[in-house]
Amino acid sequence: MGSVLEILSGSVVALVAIYLCMRFLKTPRNLPPGPFAWPLIGSLHLIGPYPQRALLKLANQYGPLISVWFGQRLIIVATSPETAMEFVKTQDANFCSRPQQQAPTILLPHDLTFSDVTPHSKHLRKIFTMQFTTSKKVEAAQQLRADEFKHMLSTIPQEGWVNVKFHLEVLAGNVFSQLIMGKRLLQPTSHDEEVNDSTEKLKDLMTITADLDRIIGTFNPGDFIPAFKKLDLQGLGSRFKQFRSRMDTFIAKILEERLELRKNRDPKEQSREKDYLDALLDESDQKTNAIDLNVVKTMLWEIYAAGMETNIASSEWAMAEMVNSPESMRKCQEELDAVVGHERMVQESDLAKLPYVKAVVKETLRLHPPVPFLAHQCIKSCKAFGYDIKAGTSVFVNVWGMGRLEKVFPDAEKFYPDRFLPGGSNAGIDYQGQNFELLPFGTGRRICAGMPIASLMVQTVVATLMHAYNWTPPKDIELMEGLGAASLSKAVPLRAYTKARLAPHLYKY
Ligand code: HEM
Repeated sequence: MGSVLEILSGSVVALVAIYLCMRFLKTPRNLPPGPFAWPLIGSLHLIGPYPQRALLKLANQYGPLISVWFGQRLIIVATSPETAMEFVKTQDANFCSRPQQQAPTILLPHDLTFSDVTPHSKHLRKIFTMQFTTSKKVEAAQQLRADEFKHMLSTIPQEGWVNVKFHLEVLAGNVFSQLIMGKRLLQPTSHDEEVNDSTEKLKDLMTITADLDRIIGTFNPGDFIPAFKKLDLQGLGSRFKQFRSRMDTFIAKILEERLELRKNRDPKEQSREKDYLDALLDESDQKTNAIDLNVVKTMLWEIYAAGMETNIASSEWAMAEMVNSPESMRKCQEELDAVVGHERMVQESDLAKLPYVKAVVKETLRLHPPVPFLAHQCIKSCKAFGYDIKAGTSVFVNVWGMGRLEKVFPDAEKFYPDRFLPGGSNAGIDYQGQNFELLPFGTGRRICAGMPIASLMVQTVVATLMHAYNWTPPKDIELMEGLGAASLSKAVPLRAYTKARLAPHLYKY
């Protein structure tokens, strides 16, 4: 018996030794420093449920540029303005590809966000930009957004406990659904947050969007250990396919309706304002490009996936931090009272005169970027900071970690919007891609395509809700991040107590 055990343990030691030798020979040796990588799992055991935290800890230990093996995938992690700049500015053209992931490949094939930069993805980005973010389009939708903000105030009780996240979801759902497909999403009819039965179909859309965000953000071992993908012991491949067919079934009805409408359209009739769906269908009508109805479906979901959850998460974090910070709330309300007064609601045109509101949004996106990493991939083998980076290596910029660098943001864990105001430690820093300390929207070729509208929406949420109500947090307010979703949201939806501050007629819709 003893000798069998000895033989077995001897074999295991020999196998591990052979593996380590092979690994050593195979591994490019001129890499940034990083933790030891075990056979098969690499350093995954160090990552845990909060990768952004774990990678910041490793950066504190090994430096601002590190190599970490996620299973068999090498990831170079940048956690400083200088190292980030190398990949998303200096060598942006060579690092603008995306690491492959199984879920988006099945759920959002040939999309914009998860694809490499190709003529097809550039064309999709152009259509998106023309429809969503040109100043003409942003301006054209101003009234639509103002109506939805007014509607939101009419549904929040003038005094009482409120599920803040619910109202933010309805707001974002209504705004985005009108921009995307000319429909409102949810129409709560009372203060008790009930949703009208007739809007059930539209409620499904919100559920699918949130599920899509969760599925894309769930850790998939097959993305890092190819053998796991082939074996697919968890049955993820078939689960993704089932979910895709749920998405298809839902969107097929909306497409059918719209195609019917377009078929019966009287060409002489005054054409209505085109939405995103129209813009995509116009493209698919021109058979000269590769946009067929499958791409149209993917692009509709993509905007919900990339835009809705990120927007809701940021707005909720901003509100949670403000509700929990009476001093910041007081300063913000003083600014709003001076600029807007109590006889009207905030308008988007006020934002230029509201530096404190802007600082609140910067501070929120510093501490709680909804996309914690910029996930890029090297196209052609190259050198960076003297290290050899091979084609196909993934590069993550830890935006979340960079927001917590003490030497850049003194007292980094504290929510303190004033740091961005004139005279503050971080005055003049903005998040639009010029300052590498703060990159919640990324920068360069892959910068967030929705940044202008996202920034406008989150600022208007903060201004409107801080202006219209006094807020009291629950005794046990927590500010923990949730797990297992692509967008970094609060773990527990925010509830807070409201008390109206404005003239009563402003709460009527
Ligand atoms: C506060 C809200 C938002 C934040 C913080 C955010 C952040 C980001 C980030 C970090 C990226 C990746 C950048 C990179 O890889 O370098 C991204 C990509 C993208 N975002 Fe956003 N986003 C937000 C809202 C939106 C909205 C509202 C939309 C659409 C209406 C949108 C559409 C996109 C698209 C299409 C991409 C892919 C761009 C590409 O890969 O070329 N985002 N976003």
